[in-house]
Amino acid sequence: MKKIFVVLGVVCAPLLAQAQNMPEWAFPTTDMTQPQDVQRAVTQADDAIRAQVYPTVAESVPEIIRKGKNGNGVCMGCHLPSGQGQPQSAPIAGLPAAYFIRQMTDFISGDRKAYRPQMAQFAKNMTPEEIQAAAAYYASLHPGPWIEVRESDTAPKTFVAGREIVARVPAAAEEPLGARIVELASEPAKPYLPPGPAYIAYVPKGSLARGAALVNTGAGKTTACATCHGAGLLGQADIPAIAGRSALHAARELFEYKDGTRGGASAAPMQAVVANLQQDDIIAIAAYVASRPAR
Ligand code: HEC
Ligand code: HEC
Repeated sequence: MKKIFVVLGVVCAPLLAQAQNMPEWAFPTTDMTQPQDVQRAVTQADDAIRAQVYPTVAESVPEIIRKGKNGNGVCMGCHLPSGQGQPQSAPIAGLPAAYFIRQMTDFISGDRKAYRPQMAQFAKNMTPEEIQAAAAYYASLHPGPWIEVRESDTAPKTFVAGREIVARVPAAAEEPLGARIVELASEPAKPYLPPGPAYIAYVPKGSLARGAALVNTGAGKTTACATCHGAGLLGQADIPAIAGRSALHAARELFEYKDGTRGGASAAPMQAVVANLQQDDIIAIAAYVASRPAR
């Protein structure tokens, strides 16, 4: 039985990522590599904290966010009641409404594909009014401190539980980090209990200095990010803030612009930015932007 799960896990693992040679660590996908009770403990802990926090979410929050449609696509289920998001979804608190609506439009048209395809389906299920209401609500939120970026040679040994939650393998020793970002909650309940930081991102030693050079000057390989993302990388006009958010998410988006998973007219400026970046540049850039203050 276990073997079947392992085989299934390997087959269902990010097909998209494998097909396009994108690194698996940036696309957490439930891997079934742990015994069932270990897998189950993670989702049960998640259920327990949701049961505690969901009833406190105000009725004034748009229904689509609290309840989704037909019990499906509950926005706060993946993006958290704070909108600050999990590494396996996206930070959406404080996004400019125009950017938010453009992403939903791109999910609907197929210009942007989500590595968890449910997201595109949720966008397709929404009415224009629901998209407007969600965009306005999230634009009104202010992200707080969210992530600690830690340079290290090693990281906790992790697996990907249900809901694509990256979790510690119980009682395992740390393992070599290598050229990856390993990002996980400092405590399983912490993402639901702002203020943060809620997550720790383990990044290779030297990433922050290398990332600072690339982000602040382009280092001959790219364009300084503040040119478009504004002072402090806190966003301007319809260009989103990128400071102080998930490092794993930032890296994944850069990979997605590079291989066209985020495509179409809106992605064109970013495709030029990532064209000459290698995987280690992307790790360094993601580490550095995540380490900047979120506001
Ligand atoms: C099953 C989990 C899940 C649910 C539920 C969900 N999302 Fe998402 N969302 C994602 C994922 C995964 C992404 C894309 C991450 C990526 O591309 O790397 C995403 C991305 C987004 C983005 C783009 C953010 C960006 O930075 O560009 C927006 C906006 C968004 N979601 C809004 C919503 C709204 C509104 C709802 C409720 C109707 C919702 N999501 C429900 C998982 C979810
Ligand atoms: C020429 C302008 C420009 C430059 C320079 C630029 N960006 Fe962007 N960036 C954009 C635009 C426009 C978007 C939104 C595109 C879309 O709608 O998909 C974006 C989106 C992003 C996103 C996705 C955000 C999210 O929440 O999903 C990330 C991450 C990002 N940029 C990182 C960077 C980094 C890192 C740099 C510097 C290395 C950079 N950008 C430089 C214009 C730029």
